[in-house]
Amino acid sequence: MKDVKTTLLERTSVRRYEREAIPEEALNLIYEAVRNTPTSYNGQQFSVIDISDQALKEELYALTGQKQIKTCNRFMVFLCDYNKITLLARRKGVEMPPFTTTMDCVTIGIIDASLAMMSAVVAAQACGLGTNCIGYLRTVDPARVAELLKLPKGVFVVCGLAIGVPREQPDLKPKEPASVVFHQNCYRQDAEGMTDEMAKYDALVQHYNRTRAGGTSDNDWCAHIIDYYRHAMDYRILDYLRAQGFDISK
Ligand SMILES: Cc1cc2nc3c(=O)[nH]c(=O)nc-3n(C[C@H](O)[C@H](O)[C@H](O)COP(=O)(O)O)c2cc1C
Repeated sequence: MKDVKTTLLERTSVRRYEREAIPEEALNLIYEAVRNTPTSYNGQQFSVIDISDQALKEELYALTGQKQIKTCNRFMVFLCDYNKITLLARRKGVEMPPFTTTMDCVTIGIIDASLAMMSAVVAAQACGLGTNCIGYLRTVDPARVAELLKLPKGVFVVCGLAIGVPREQPDLKPKEPASVVFHQNCYRQDAEGMTDEMAKYDALVQHYNRTRAGGTSDNDWCAHIIDYYRHAMDYRILDYLRAQGFDISK
């Protein structure tokens, strides 16, 4: 197993996988790591659909266009899940407040599911596996995804995670410098200095994109990210949340 430093600092998203199955021992570690994720109130407001069925993976690929979903060995879908606690409360006759109408409820579920996904990423990485988060699963056709995965009310998709034996080792992507990631004691007040450092980072990514192994591009990082936001303006997540029983009013 890889040590912690290598696991965390040499992680990259891996999008090409061997056909091999994930070793049972690695899968067990991923399950245990996910189960031991810290969660709000220890309420464990998440669950995971572990997809090994190739036909279902192909359907999700057809919806999202993300090839990794069909070529990975396991595709795990991380969910915000209030169904489990609702079932138990109903059985025990404990009244549920209308918590699913609050933004905090949704926030908690997204945090819990995201942390659980990161537990899976780290466990998989430590075992020498490759992973790729797939956000398209949340955005492309949420109603159809909910139908395919038979999601009950009180449950929605936060993110997908492709896991497999790596067939590639992509270059590490340059990340923002610590000086704009970490603020010391309060948020940095020098907007000009921050802008300079962001501009330097922008130039660094552009250079990386022009020279990286396995397919180069002439991407301007800032424009590229903002273009993603532009496309995301069409997503109708509130409608999707409503359909899944989260009619947020406060
Ligand atoms: C929430 C989330 C959603 C993502 N969705 C996708 C996706 O749909 N397709 C994809 O190829 N990569 C996806 N990624 C991977 C990012 O593109 C990747 O993490 C980022 O470019 C940084 O590269 P690195 O992981 O190699 O450091 C996603 C990552 C996160 C955290």
